[in-house]
Amino acid sequence: MQLTINGQTLEVDAEPEMPILWMLRDVLHLTGTKFGCGIAACGACTVQLDGQAVRSCVLPVSAAAGKTITTIEALAKDGVSHPLQTAWIAEQVPQCGYCQSGMLMAAAALLEKNKHPSDADIDAAMTNICRCGSYQRVRAAIHRAALAMRGSAA
Ligand code: FES
Ligand code: FES
Repeated sequence: MQLTINGQTLEVDAEPEMPILWMLRDVLHLTGTKFGCGIAACGACTVQLDGQAVRSCVLPVSAAAGKTITTIEALAKDGVSHPLQTAWIAEQVPQCGYCQSGMLMAAAALLEKNKHPSDADIDAAMTNICRCGSYQRVRAAIHRAALAMRGSAA
């Protein structure tokens, strides 16, 4: 199949029904996207499809035809960290780190739509599960990144 992934159009040798997660990890070796539950419950596998946060463990490759997939590997641009990544470090968000690429991709999709999210907006958008309980720091880091992004846009 021809797919657009992280700004590149690629011929990918994958069955249309293969979950996007396994196409990314096993075929393209983009292992930043993680497997957690496989049933769309945890969010560890979150990528963006045309800018929307989606759970790639339950979405078939065929769903990406004509659309753009963005993974954690493309969150930084031209060697410059995304403001969320900078904020994540400043707030020391990750503990074990396993859920964090999914968290970041969901947070990036949120900030694309909402430049000034409230705590309630963040809670509604961030349904990812973290076994280490990083939720408070995730929220703080999203506020920090949103502030930085509004500042740089001013
Ligand atoms: S691995 Fe996809 S939601 Fe848990
Ligand atoms: S940081 Fe360990 S699961 Fe979230």
